[in-house]
Amino acid sequence: MASIKFFKIGLLAVFSVLVLAWAVSGTYSTVLNGTLGAYAEPQPTPASPDDYVGSETCKACHEDQFKTFGTTKHAKLAEVASWKDKAQGCESCHGPGKAHVEGSGDKTKIISFTGKNSKEISETCLGCHAGKESHNNFRRGEHWRNDVGCTDCHSPHGTALGNSIDGSITNIGPTSRQNPGIATVKMLKGSEPQLCMSCHTETRSQFSKPFHHKVLEGTMKCSDCHNPHGGFESKQSKLAVGADVVCIKCHGDKQGPFAFEHAPLKTEGCTACHTPHGSSNPKLLTRSSVRQLCFECHSSITEQAAPGVPSFHSQANVRFLNCTVCHVTIHGSNANNRFFR
Ligand code: HEC
Ligand code: HEC
Ligand code: HEC
Ligand code: HEC
Ligand code: HEC
Ligand code: HEC
Ligand code: HEC
Ligand code: HEC
Ligand code: HEC
Ligand code: HEC
Repeated sequence: MASIKFFKIGLLAVFSVLVLAWAVSGTYSTVLNGTLGAYAEPQPTPASPDDYVGSETCKACHEDQFKTFGTTKHAKLAEVASWKDKAQGCESCHGPGKAHVEGSGDKTKIISFTGKNSKEISETCLGCHAGKESHNNFRRGEHWRNDVGCTDCHSPHGTALGNSIDGSITNIGPTSRQNPGIATVKMLKGSEPQLCMSCHTETRSQFSKPFHHKVLEGTMKCSDCHNPHGGFESKQSKLAVGADVVCIKCHGDKQGPFAFEHAPLKTEGCTACHTPHGSSNPKLLTRSSVRQLCFECHSSITEQAAPGVPSFHSQANVRFLNCTVCHVTIHGSNANNRFFR
């Protein structure tokens, strides 16, 4: 990229000088035949349409790839108006195949991804996919940084079970050894929670805690909350601005604005008090009891922005043990600054 830019600046400078020279000399032809050519960008020989042979030709020798590929959206690019007259099918990723075919499968005459690392392969995909908001941040995400590439999650040729079958969104019934989770959408290599958990093994036990978002049960997906393609947010959580947005999508009533806000909601977000994956607390609190959670901030001994509890809150009195019995509107209130209603 940088070299292209440099080249363009260089070209502009040379061009300006030449235009000036032309204006002075009045000989237009020197410009065309002169030094300009020496600066021309080294062009790879542009593939002519004749260098493409079409996917059907590849089928003869690469039956396996061809079979599954047919069910992917890539196989249908010809039907997408903006892809008319552009490289299609196998050759949209592997480049023109004529020389390869004429060389009876000469490996050196085709773009092969064997031996390429995940970033190089991803760059090929991003060549077409970077435009979309959800993908142009891929290079900012933890996956990119840790060498997890497009083809760690997507199979470039589709899967044997077919793809893009509407209505069978990633999860298929309960997760079990008998049902490993097979994806039939978006060319994914596996159904979503299993795919993610194959690397993020620790999340399985988190979602197995007594109280949890129902990801293993299939009513929710990892990607409801995370953008697998990366982004600006910490932990690749979804839908930008404020740490809360991902939760608010489903729990809108907790957002406010309230006349009396409980400060941590705005300053730290929902995860100040909740573990989003799973918890031993029924309300997915970070502590096993409400009380412990509150005291983490509302303690006169620690130096916190939060006030300590009033002295009449005797912890010897069971009446005061369950804080949210009185402080009911713990997320914020429009009526009371102590969150009583
Ligand atoms: C979306 C881009 C893309 C398209 C379209 C595509 N391939 Fe590939 N192909 C790849 C990538 C990436 C690999 C490297 C293997 C991997 O990462 O799984 C690959 C690998 C291969 C291999 C090596 C063996 C293997 O399966 O790993 C062959 C052969 C091949 N492709 C043939 C084809 C044929 C034939 C077609 C059309 C029917 C096709 N490809 C369409 C991206 C693509
Ligand atoms: C005449 C048979 C034939 C045709 C037609 C053919 N190939 Fe191949 N292709 C081969 C052979 C043989 C190999 C080498 C396999 C090996 O050495 O493992 C190969 C290798 C490849 C590889 C490299 C795999 C690797 O291991 O790196 C790719 C990619 C590939 N072909 C894609 C294509 C595409 C795309 C087309 C259609 C444009 C195509 N081939 C058409 C026979 C063919
Ligand atoms: C030549 C351009 C091009 C390249 C290269 C390319 N794609 Fe695509 N891809 C497209 C287009 C265009 C669509 C959308 C087609 C549509 O909407 O009908 C698409 C769709 C997809 C989809 C959505 C499939 C679905 O069922 O909704 C996935 C996933 C995908 N591509 C992954 C990849 C991966 C992974 C690579 C690299 C191995 C890659 N693409 C390389 C052009 C490309
Ligand atoms: C960590 C796994 C993972 C990686 C890495 C990944 N994807 Fe995806 N991708 C997914 C999942 C999961 C979905 C389905 C999301 C959904 O159902 O909302 C998806 C959906 C898509 C789609 C279709 C929906 C959309 O957002 O347009 C495209 C296209 C796509 N991915 C392309 C890519 C490309 C290109 C790369 C590499 C730059 C890539 N993906 C890397 C997991 C991944
Ligand atoms: C091929 C292995 C692999 C797969 C599959 C995978 N991930 Fe990752 N993921 C990683 C690695 C490696 C990291 C970076 C190191 C880490 O934080 O664990 C990462 C980081 C993340 C992070 C950021 C963690 C942080 O601390 O910022 C999130 C969120 C995430 N992945 C979610 C997902 C989701 C959702 C899926 C499924 C759609 C998925 N991953 C699939 C390997 C994978
Ligand atoms: C209800 C929303 C939600 C769902 C569903 C969800 N996550 Fe998370 N996840 C989060 C939030 C929010 C964080 C950030 C926690 C924090 O900042 O303390 C997070 C953190 C992470 C991290 C970073 C590690 C860590 O503990 O900080 C990884 C990796 C991750 N999630 C993977 C996954 C995977 C894999 C799935 C699906 C099996 C999944 N998540 C499902 C909301 C969710
Ligand atoms: C895709 C929708 C969705 C998203 C996003 C979501 N949740 Fe949930 N959440 C639910 C559903 C549905 C339930 C209740 C059913 C269940 O047990 O899964 C629930 C349950 C809860 C509960 C327990 C409530 C109770 O009454 O037992 C808490 C706490 C919670 N979510 C907090 C969060 C937080 C914090 C986030 C953001 C990290 C979040 N949720 C993101 C759908 C969502
Ligand atoms: C200051 C700590 C704190 C923060 C921050 C917080 N919560 Fe809560 N939340 C609680 C407590 C405590 C409960 C349990 C209330 C009870 O005992 O009935 C709870 C309960 C819930 C419940 C289930 C009960 C109900 O009222 O439906 C949901 C859903 C929930 N919170 C979502 C959220 C979301 C979304 C956010 C971020 C916008 C958030 N919480 C931020 C402390 C917090
Ligand atoms: C993450 C830290 C944190 C946690 C956990 C937390 N709070 Fe707070 N709370 C605060 C802060 C900060 C304020 C704002 C103090 C201010 O504005 O002066 C506050 C304000 C309050 C107020 C209003 C006090 C006032 O003077 O305006 C009450 C009542 C309250 N919290 C009760 C609770 C209860 C009950 C719990 C447990 C369910 C809890 N808090 C958990 C940080 C926390
Ligand atoms: C029986 C009802 C009740 C219970 C249970 C209760 N509180 Fe309170 N809380 C009150 C009352 C009444 C006030 C004082 C209101 C006032 O002074 O305006 C108060 C005030 C507070 C304040 C504000 C202190 C300040 O200086 O502004 C905090 C913080 C607080 N409680 C935390 C807690 C915590 C933590 C628990 C659980 C250990 C708890 N409360 C349990 C009734 C209760």
